[in-house]
Amino acid sequence: MTKLRERYPFFVANRPEQPNEELEVTDKFSGEVVTRVALARTPDIDRAIAAAVAAEKPFAQMPPYARQAVLEHCVKRFRERFEELAHALCVEAGKPIKDSRGEVTRLIDTFRVAAEESVRIDGEVLNLEISARAKGYRGFTKRVPIGACSFISPFNFPLNLAAHKVAPAIAVGCPFVLKPASRTPLGALIIGEVLAETELPPGAFSILPVHRDGADLFTTDERFKLLSFTGSPAVGWDLKARAGKKKVVLELGGNAACIVDEDQRDQLDRVVERIVFGAYYQSGQSCISVQRILVHASLYDALRERLVTAVRALRSGDPKDESTFIGPMISESEAKRLDGWIQDAAKKGAKVLVGGKREGTMLDATLVEDTPRDCALYAEEAFGPVALLSRFERFEDAIAEVNDSKFGLQAGVFTRDVFKAQRAWDELEVGGVIINDVPSFRVDNMPYGGVKESGLGREGIRSAIDDMTEVRLMILKMP
Ligand code: SIN
Repeated sequence: MTKLRERYPFFVANRPEQPNEELEVTDKFSGEVVTRVALARTPDIDRAIAAAVAAEKPFAQMPPYARQAVLEHCVKRFRERFEELAHALCVEAGKPIKDSRGEVTRLIDTFRVAAEESVRIDGEVLNLEISARAKGYRGFTKRVPIGACSFISPFNFPLNLAAHKVAPAIAVGCPFVLKPASRTPLGALIIGEVLAETELPPGAFSILPVHRDGADLFTTDERFKLLSFTGSPAVGWDLKARAGKKKVVLELGGNAACIVDEDQRDQLDRVVERIVFGAYYQSGQSCISVQRILVHASLYDALRERLVTAVRALRSGDPKDESTFIGPMISESEAKRLDGWIQDAAKKGAKVLVGGKREGTMLDATLVEDTPRDCALYAEEAFGPVALLSRFERFEDAIAEVNDSKFGLQAGVFTRDVFKAQRAWDELEVGGVIINDVPSFRVDNMPYGGVKESGLGREGIRSAIDDMTEVRLMILKMP
């Protein structure tokens, strides 16, 4: 296994800096401090923003093929540093090594797609002759970069969710200042090392680990034209309220649901395999983790039995071990919080079928049935290795139950009935409906984001490119 270095610098205006103040990074399984990263203070953020503003024009003028070359360089270097990235991620996030490798693969995909899209940012020719007074007028649009961007990325995908902001910004030519999650800053800093090898204009990027209470400028500074935040709903909506005039994109959480319809009897093994993946992958610490499983009454007992067996068989332990499926949660306080929700639901009548035990940061893969809908375990975002089973009789009841949530990110529907699939797509109040699979499905070129309290706007390279650019119109009056 590759070793972590003793310390990692932050980046201001494309250059590494190593001030005295540092942030400790722990191994989330052992709790030991494994490395230290440079910690930014408000003056560092201020310098980074000034540099980003100064880079707006040169970066906008950088030709698309040159921006593409930067992104292609990243793809190449991430491939070369694959195991180092996976190891850093496994240690700093406690993400099982197989999932860590999966995330590095997605990081590469995200930059690869951005490299492809960087040379396809085109405009339109508009026919404006809609009435006599517009005779002889033609319109043309192009997309121009919005300007300096503020990015705040979360702990659960320290590489790929930073990449979903960084890669499209480079594709369009927007300078940015990125704040990675302070518990998992390494991945973003390694991305910074790779970006520092490129010909980006000075000031094009800064990557600054900073404690949340010192990070206000990321939200409030009016020099930023866009704030893109991925993280918890409570924090996200608060940031939006304080963000002033800048455009805001929020990728927040959910309590994603998955419907298993009555025509799935001969598919139960696959359905169970996918639900186990969707609910417990990286200990459920994904915004689209399966939290609510709604099963048609005719299949309920058979599915429950299979799920119980499969969940019991999941291996917990050190995420560095190749056979581990369930690693630690990000912190003991998060594990305690969710443990408390499980105990509370049990007191209110829910039945814990598997799991429900915690030791430090390790919470068992837990399956619960008959959870009252007003329990936090049902109504809030669990963000941990817990899934809740319930049964339904009519498809419309299942749709109504999925919609009985303040969140709406993605939903999964296992059905072979094309009309029910259409109905789900029409009626589910979510950003994405995944037919014949779990809501946890995501590839990195698709539009991704939520409605209700789950967020605002979409990520996915094309969508992010739209957000990070403005349409500029030119009108030509023919003589
Ligand atoms: C998230 O947790 O919002 C991201 C899920 C993913 O990218 O798979």
